[in-house]
Amino acid sequence: MTRALAALYRMFYDGVLSRMPEPTAIALGQATLRRLPLDRFGVFRLEDPRLATTLAGVRLPNPVILAAQYYDPAILRRAMGLGFGAVTAKTITLNARPGHPQPNLVRTRSAAGPGLVNCNGFQNPGLAAFRASLAGLPHRVPLIVSVAGETVEDYAAMVEGLAPLGDLVEMNISSPNTKLVYAWSERPQELRAVLETLGKRSPRPLIVKISPDFAEVNERDIIPAALAAGVRVINYGNTRRIEEPRLSQKAGGLSGPDIFPATLDNVRRTRKRFGDAVEIIATGGVDSPDKALALLHAGARAVGYFTGFITRGPILARRILERLRADA
Ligand SMILES: Cc1cc2nc3c(=O)[nH]c(=O)nc-3n(C[C@H](O)[C@H](O)[C@H](O)COP(=O)(O)O)c2cc1C
Repeated sequence: MTRALAALYRMFYDGVLSRMPEPTAIALGQATLRRLPLDRFGVFRLEDPRLATTLAGVRLPNPVILAAQYYDPAILRRAMGLGFGAVTAKTITLNARPGHPQPNLVRTRSAAGPGLVNCNGFQNPGLAAFRASLAGLPHRVPLIVSVAGETVEDYAAMVEGLAPLGDLVEMNISSPNTKLVYAWSERPQELRAVLETLGKRSPRPLIVKISPDFAEVNERDIIPAALAAGVRVINYGNTRRIEEPRLSQKAGGLSGPDIFPATLDNVRRTRKRFGDAVEIIATGGVDSPDKALALLHAGARAVGYFTGFITRGPILARRILERLRADA
């Protein structure tokens, strides 16, 4: 049954969604998610206590996480019923940001499969409006809130303002589309000070989401600084920065199966170097049950994806869970 649904969605993506102009496909996809009560259908979920895991002590019913991209509470609410063990909200900044102009998202297709390149630029409603919108959201599964800022004070204000509404807080220092966060990997000493401040002040456990473009700095400076500040969950990672002349910024972040091999290498190296001291969320290129399993076997505690949700559809989480259960 789930295999048939997956095949149907693939036909829909290849035949319809991927042929539409990107903004039309995004509008259609998001309107469908908001309006169709997919979260009421048990077929998208698989509940089995053997699949449960924890991140910094927070219990997740399973290790499959929807990665950051949506901030609309109607969509977050639906996603919480689509099999995920946790759902991540889009990165929020102190003030609203309009994001980069169109075109800010294009499709790619390689031998590995369909992917995306985006230069979204943190289009978001800002802290106050997002807080208000989250107020009535039930946490059917844990909600990970994601924050970004330019200074220690920004991050502290974001964490204090948003953390109480989430179960975990993700500090995004890795989106390649704004200097705002990407530049943090180029100044690890300052980042250390931010981590120390937030480690003390956050009322919820922190996750640091790092960039696959900075493997050396991550493993030499950033992960050790996070551990020293008491942060033990690392999300490795975000999109990879590439040139893309079709985008308004002429560059963007590549996501989808082309970045999977690097995700797997990053998880293996990090696990080998830091042992059990870090809890790794592996994000980047997961679009099949096999890839999710490979990352978990390589030492990840959980796997995240976003592009696979678009290209393989809402049935992917359930298909991964079936595979994990068979492997349990
Ligand atoms: C359109 C788009 C918007 C995204 N927005 C965010 C964001 O706000 N914060 C963040 O940490 N990651 C963001 N990401 C990155 C994803 O959460 C994920 O880390 C990345 O796409 C790699 O995973 P994937 O290959 O499964 O998509 C975004 C990705 C896409 C494609």
